[in-house]
Amino acid sequence: MFTKINTVSLTGLDGFMVEVQTDISNGMIAFDIIGLPDATVREARERAKASIKNCGCEYPRRRITMNLAPASLKKEGSGFDLAITLGILEASGQIHIEDRETTIFLGELALDGSVKSIRGVLPMVISAYEHGFNKCFVPNANAQEAAVIEGVDIYPVAHLSQVLDHFDNINRIEPYKVDVNELKTSVAASFIDMREVKGQEQAKRAMEIAASGSHNVLMSGPAGTGKSMLAKRMSTILPDMTFDEMLEVTKLHSIAGILPAGVPLITHRPFRSPHHTVSASALSGGGAIPRPGELSLAHCGVLFLDELPEFRRDTLEALRQPLEDGKITISRVNASISYPCNITLVTAMNPCPCGNFGNPKRVCTCSPSQIQKYRSKISGPLLDRIDIQIEIPSVRYEDLSRIADGDTSEVIRERVNRARQIQLARYENDNITSNSQLTAAMLDKYCPLGEAESSLLKKAFERLGLSARAHSKILKVSRTIADLDGSDDIKAAHIAEAIQYRNFDRKGY
Ligand SMILES: Nc1ncnc2c1ncn2[C@@H]1O[C@H](COP(=O)(O)OP(=O)(O)OP(=O)(O)O)[C@@H](O)[C@H]1O
Ligand SMILES: [Mg+2]
Ligand SMILES: [Zn+2]
Repeated sequence: MFTKINTVSLTGLDGFMVEVQTDISNGMIAFDIIGLPDATVREARERAKASIKNCGCEYPRRRITMNLAPASLKKEGSGFDLAITLGILEASGQIHIEDRETTIFLGELALDGSVKSIRGVLPMVISAYEHGFNKCFVPNANAQEAAVIEGVDIYPVAHLSQVLDHFDNINRIEPYKVDVNELKTSVAASFIDMREVKGQEQAKRAMEIAASGSHNVLMSGPAGTGKSMLAKRMSTILPDMTFDEMLEVTKLHSIAGILPAGVPLITHRPFRSPHHTVSASALSGGGAIPRPGELSLAHCGVLFLDELPEFRRDTLEALRQPLEDGKITISRVNASISYPCNITLVTAMNPCPCGNFGNPKRVCTCSPSQIQKYRSKISGPLLDRIDIQIEIPSVRYEDLSRIADGDTSEVIRERVNRARQIQLARYENDNITSNSQLTAAMLDKYCPLGEAESSLLKKAFERLGLSARAHSKILKVSRTIADLDGSDDIKAAHIAEAIQYRNFDRKGY
């Protein structure tokens, strides 16, 4: 007997439908899987055999041939177990699947027949929905994330026997529901606040601008001036995510298998801060069964690299292309896949190895060549991709001893949200979401300057010896400052402020 059961596999963020075709015939006892299965998929044979027996069903002692179509695409992972096992059960007449044209099955099986969670259920379900499927049987542990998609009924299964009982009409599985609107409006509890950072008005302002326009930031300053403090608090002032952004971020975290239990949808921008020992591949992603790396896990949010010069050079170089493209491509044997990584890069460093250079109260013990070597770790091309570069001065005692009186993160976030809304509306048809993503052509269109503004910028270039690369950065940051100001036009004051965030160009860093 011959049967077909549908399931999904992933390449990058995109799913493709896989038809599990099973044929059972008389002949020598055998079980073959064809259609480019990887080693894990081939091992499904043993898991299928054991779980069928442990459910009290019969494993057919005949010739089983299974084809995973389309045969040209590689099938990876253990998510096919459930579909493969049901294929055998149906082809041997032990179950009858209803609505097969609109139903998919996902899940790994343990030998006792229990259904284990798999990675990437959300993108798989989205893809199934786009292909006209509206019923998904998924592992219990993945039901929450899957149920985020409206228009698909999610049947959570903990054990193979539940699927048998369902189709035998002994005990039907109830579709799992979550209230997506309630999720979307949930507020993150945060225990830190921008207000706790005393003084450092310019740095806080720079953080607000960076959050509004998604600009990359480099902070340099002596030890203990609040750089790490500021960066961590950036997560409390990031703009709200759109629903599309929530879905995309959740997909990536689902594929990485790091969606926390009880969190079906990521509704707040991620903040990732890998340690400086992180490898280039952990940053980029990859692996035998590919997973997104830190860069993609920070998609739509912040990637914070503290103590930037401590990172390995090859790690920092691996950042360049993804920062430029907003996506990361991983080459594999027969194909390459890519994951998005539109991130706000926030970085911090000391001005010298001992950390005291520039601190009026302490003595720097580094030699000029040590300082030079330390700073040269941050290459020009990397600096090129950083819109906002600021120096963080030592905190004055008067500032530290004052009670915190600055704006709270909530107040700042409201301003950031307003500025982001302006950008979303302006770039509705441009396929970008923030000023940092403006291309050269878009700069001409959206950042025209008046006569006074042009001449101010020209003078600043000559006087401060700014490099050519600073030009587009200043325009983008000015655009964001104007948006924060609610101004359609970029004014001289906006440009003047943006120029202040080019510390490292000015000094021939
Ligand atoms: N502006 C500030 N307002 C309030 N507290 C501050 C400020 N700057 C520093 N501190 C205090 O000093 C501690 C160290 O600050 P933080 O770790 O942010 O410094 P840093 O600039 O990252 O230093 P390093 O270069 O050594 O990493 C903070 O935990 C905080 O208690
Ligand atoms: Mg620090
Ligand atoms: Zn020093």
